[in-house]
Amino acid sequence: MNNQELIKYALEAREKSYSPYSKFKVGAAILTRSGKVFTGCNIESSSYTPTICAERTALSKCVSEGHTDLEKIAVVGSLEKISYPCGVCRQFLREFGDDIIIISATSENNYTEYKLSELLPNSFGPEDL
Ligand code: THU
Repeated sequence: MNNQELIKYALEAREKSYSPYSKFKVGAAILTRSGKVFTGCNIESSSYTPTICAERTALSKCVSEGHTDLEKIAVVGSLEKISYPCGVCRQFLREFGDDIIIISATSENNYTEYKLSELLPNSFGPEDL
């Protein structure tokens, strides 16, 4: 699946965002190496702290369905400029590889593409325990 198709899934997932407090909708779509897609949106909480980002929603769905073989993830925020995954989500993704491709997009035709190792250099991972 190409990047534009994966971004389309992330844009669709963003529609489901539950973000009444920040009003900042985020959508994410993970492509596994076996070709499966798992999507997620941010889900906020009135007590704020339990809020979960779109990336971690998608990754939780992916891993809980038995897939830990991530190839890439597309993420779309709500601004005209590109938003990048927060630090917590970078670390959460890192568990499953540092060569995962992170596609940060505003639309199907406007995106950047980095390896996780570029966004989270000198990272701590499962090999370090
Ligand atoms: N958010 C994400 O879903 N992903 C990120 O990488 C950054 C932030 C969400 C969390 C919260 O619901 C809203 O965006 C504002 O921070």
